[in-house]
Amino acid sequence: MAMLLIPVNEIKPGMTLAKPILRADDGLILFQNDLELKQVYIDRIKSLNLETVWVLDYPRTNEPDFLEPIKKEIRMKATSILRTTFSQLKEQKNLDIVKLKNLVKEILDYILSDDRIAYTIRKIDAYDNYTFTHSVDVCVLAILIGSIMDLKRNELEILGVCSLLHDVGKIFLDFRIFNKPGKLEPIEYEQIKAHTRAGYEFLKSKENLSFLIPHMALQHHEREDGSGYPRGLKGKDIHRYAKIIAIADVFNAMTSQRIYQDPVPAALAIQEIYENTPLKYNQDVVEHFIKIVTPYSKGIILLLSNHQTVEVIETSRKKCLIRVISGFNEGEIYNLYQKPQLHVVKWLD
Ligand SMILES: [Fe+2]
Repeated sequence: MAMLLIPVNEIKPGMTLAKPILRADDGLILFQNDLELKQVYIDRIKSLNLETVWVLDYPRTNEPDFLEPIKKEIRMKATSILRTTFSQLKEQKNLDIVKLKNLVKEILDYILSDDRIAYTIRKIDAYDNYTFTHSVDVCVLAILIGSIMDLKRNELEILGVCSLLHDVGKIFLDFRIFNKPGKLEPIEYEQIKAHTRAGYEFLKSKENLSFLIPHMALQHHEREDGSGYPRGLKGKDIHRYAKIIAIADVFNAMTSQRIYQDPVPAALAIQEIYENTPLKYNQDVVEHFIKIVTPYSKGIILLLSNHQTVEVIETSRKKCLIRVISGFNEGEIYNLYQKPQLHVVKWLD
């Protein structure tokens, strides 16, 4: 049976020691190999201040460490509600805000039900559905960020609706521009920028909407240093929700399959956002954002800066458990987040 080197705080009753544990001063055997660990031994081992121990490979539980933030059925329902809402709006029909609020409540109930929920990149993305799937993803991400920033439930509900409608101004523009490969002409770029004001004007004209909803459509492309659009607002003048939506928007756009772009791996997108913080993105929001995304999904093979090739075997908000598959200490399992000196050189998957 294969041996694993695991952190002491991960040993559990029922595991079997694969190598003896020796006393540091004189090498006396304290625990024999092949010993099945009981809680009393585990407590004793923990008191020895060891970092890791070798155990025999053990059957893993089916209990996942990390859960998707939205169920497939809710995602499908959300995409279809948005499609209907957007096409009704285009025909100048009423905005069914109650339907959107109920949808956000459903997403919110699920996200708040379990703190293992984290955001990971989905592999598939249909081109023509982009605006809808993107809006749903931005909503989920924004709610996740807001939830660990301790926003209240009613604030999260508004943030969710703002996120669903942040790009609604696109319905008034020629969709082809948004999918154009290659560099945009200045006039085309101006048209793209116009979706913010178009969304604002449109939502502002609707009755019974929180003033935040049109304003987030207007502000989500503003940047901390004033380099955003349409008004070039600076940090203190940008609403907190717009700062959250901006990061959710950029991260999802970078990691999505588009006609003109292959998706950027999550870890690289996070790195790019980090490099532009605090210049373009709000530091506090980014610090929370990186806690709710899992940069490396399960099964991915990575080459680390210490020349180990590793496989990601478990991932969650707090840990990224990897198993060394080649290099020194083959079989070792450890939490990548606890080794800040290491970085990922390459994705081999
Ligand atoms: Fe936008």
